[in-house]
Parts: sequence; structure tokens; C-alpha cells
Amino acid sequence: MLNFTRADFPEGFLFGTATSSYQTEGHSFGGAGPTHWDSFAATPGNVVRAENGDIACDHYHRFAEDFDLVARAGFDAYRFSTSWARVLPEGRGAVNEEGLDFYDRLADALLERGLKPCATLYHWELPAPLADLGGWRNRDIAGWFADYTEIIMRRIGDRMFSVAPINEPWCVGWLSHFLGQHAPGLRDIRATAHAMHHVLLAHGRAIQTMRALGLDNLGGVFNLEWASPADDSEAARDAAALYDGYYNRFFLSGVFKGCYPDNVMQGLGPHMPKGWHDDFDVIGAPLDWCGINYYTRKVIAPNDGPWPHHHEIEGPLDKTFMDWEIYPQGLYDFLIRTARDYTGDLPLYVTENGMAAPDIIENGRIDDPHRIAYLDAHVAMVRQALAEGVPVKGYFIWSLLDNYEWALGYDKRFGLVHVDFDTLDRTPKSSYHALTVALTRT
Ligand code: FCB
Repeated sequence: MLNFTRADFPEGFLFGTATSSYQTEGHSFGGAGPTHWDSFAATPGNVVRAENGDIACDHYHRFAEDFDLVARAGFDAYRFSTSWARVLPEGRGAVNEEGLDFYDRLADALLERGLKPCATLYHWELPAPLADLGGWRNRDIAGWFADYTEIIMRRIGDRMFSVAPINEPWCVGWLSHFLGQHAPGLRDIRATAHAMHHVLLAHGRAIQTMRALGLDNLGGVFNLEWASPADDSEAARDAAALYDGYYNRFFLSGVFKGCYPDNVMQGLGPHMPKGWHDDFDVIGAPLDWCGINYYTRKVIAPNDGPWPHHHEIEGPLDKTFMDWEIYPQGLYDFLIRTARDYTGDLPLYVTENGMAAPDIIENGRIDDPHRIAYLDAHVAMVRQALAEGVPVKGYFIWSLLDNYEWALGYDKRFGLVHVDFDTLDRTPKSSYHALTVALTRT
């Protein structure tokens, strides 16, 4: 049982669940072009068992069944992404009509079930021909992305409840170009500085493009991770503040304040692309809401290595199957801090929250009390922030389905619904049933 129902939330508060294209659709279907995730996954050492998104959950063919599950649980909204390479197999130029038709049918299928479609236009599968041109390192990507935005939104924009251009700019910039853990797997500070700036420039261009099409309810989706200093020393506090700087504040500050944090620029400054100071009018194009994806915190200790002169140490709290500490307090702190420091009265949404576990089927059932407890604890933090006047307007659970968890392949199960990756059968877990009660009980 969950300790909340709808009655505990303001009228109109939205409950939703989220997925993304490459993680669920099955990228080998329907004429989608190659992406940098396909080649990254095909390179030994990058992804567990070199797994990729070729089949994933076969959501491409099963979306109607999947949306029945979303509706039956009593959700109001569904967050999904459109694949750039499915719409434009070369990233630019020729359109794949089959891809556009797919998203058209998907939009209608959501509306037919009374679900609000919440689109994201980029959840990481960059078309390979654009990666060949430097991908996020190339400033031209802002224009390529704006063109793609126009094509897909001209087709489905009329039916979207909300749209955000880019999922988690930190992952696109830092995780993929500094840590090398996601495609394109670079570990290069200059590439990082360029990608972090260009991803925000592309975000801004896409917002402007959609405004020109007359769309509204446009936002940004940021993944925020709380940084705790390893001890009370000033050096540890500075180290955590820098982690917070390049993980969280860089993107929020760029979009909502028109500048980047000083502590981050001490390291990235010399590597920034030419003319970056002049881009904030575009980057700061006004938004209608701000989305926060929240999972965990990190404990940060200083070291005498090269900038950023710090590393993560293992924290003491219980961990999920991702080895991520369970730290609900961080969600509350971010809701309070984001409203206070960046967004004011702008609606906030928790656009992703959830946990992975090695869920197994026994006698046709999947018991995931750990997930129920995780969701309960985080929803309690949303309620607390609401009680203190933070304008939180919705909460989305990652994920509807077990799916392709990027470099970790198919082992890390985040779904409310279990997917058997041999038969592709869907089986709702006990967390799904608990949510159904919470969302439909009157
Ligand atoms: C987020 C991503 C999503 C999924 C979850 C676990 O960072 O947006 O695709 O991988 O983490």
C-alpha cells in the first residue's frame, strides 16, 4: 500500500509515468536511421553484454497495449520522447514518413485513452551522420535540432499537452563527453565545454521554433543530483559545491539567469566555444514550466588530481540496484531551492523519479515492496514542498516498463510493469497495483 491518494494533492495535480524512444520502441523497426548509441553499444566495453535498443520493449508494435496499462492505472499523463533518427534518418534532409506516422498514431492513442501527451524531443539517440560531424561539439547542432523540432512539431504539436526539447542536458554534456559513460563516450574537457553550451543553445532554439509555431506549455527537463560534502572541511564543501555547480547549477543558471556559475567556469572557461557569452538571449527563451528528474545524491571528497579536483565516495544510506543511495530529502531540497533560486512562481514538475531492482516473477507475480517504499518516501517530499508553497504541478514515475538502461543494458529494471525480454510479455508489478489503488480510490 502507498500512503497517499489523489485527495492528498491539489486539484489538477498530474500523476504520470515516463519512457523514452530508444529505451522502449525497438530502433530496428520502421525505418529509423543509425544513431551514436548503436555504434557506442557495438564497441566492446561500453555497454553490458553490448546490448542495444534494436528490439527493446517492442513498444513500436505494442504501444496500444502499453497505453492501456497507463490508463488502467489511473495516470493522467504520459511522458515519452520522439526519436530524431526515426523522424530524420540522416538527422537532416529526407523525412521518414513512417516515423512521423508512428508518432501521429501514438499521439492519437494517448488522447483516445484520456492521457495527456508530454513530449521530449531528444532523449539521447543522436543520428549517426550528425555525430560524424561532431555531434554536440558542433555549434551547427542548434540549427539542425531546430529544423527537426519544426518537422516533428508541425505534425504532432497540436495534440501535445507539454513539450520539452532535451532530456537531461547534464547527461548529454558531462556524462557523455567528460565521463565517457554514454555515447559518444568521450573524455575530453574541451568537448565537454562545447557540448554543455551547445545543448543549451539547441534547447533555446527549439523553444523559439515552437513558439513561432504557436505552441505553448513548453519547458525544460533537468536531472538534479544532490551533492553532500564528505566531511565538514572547507575543501570538502568546495568540492561538493563544484559538483553541484557543473551538475545542477550550470544548466538552471544558464536557462533561468543567463550566466554560468563561477566555480564551473574556473575549469571550463578556457575551453568554451567562441562567442558563448552572446548566446544567453536564445538559451534563456522564456519557459512555461521546469521539470526535475531526481534519483539520488552523491558524497563528494576533494583530491589533488586535475580539475575538478574531487571524486565520489560511497555513502552510508541504503542503495538501489543501480548502487544509488536512497535520499528522498534531496528531492524536497531541490524543489525548495529551484523555486527559490531560479524559477519563482513557474510550475515545477517532477518529470522522473523511480528505482531499479532485480525484480523477478514468481508464480506470475512480481513483488517490489522496495519500489513502493521508494515512491512513497519521495511523494511525501513532494507533499511537504507543496505544503510550503512550492508550485509543484505533477509527479512522473520512471518508468512504465522495464527497458534498456543505457550502458547497463537490460538488467536494471525500473518498470512498474515487468517486461520479459525473451517473450516481451508485460506483467504489472505490485507497485503498479498499489499505484492503481492510490490513483483511482475516491
Ligand atoms: C535518467 C534517464 C532515463 C533513465 C533513468 C534511470 O537519467 O533520463 O533515461 O535512464 O535515468
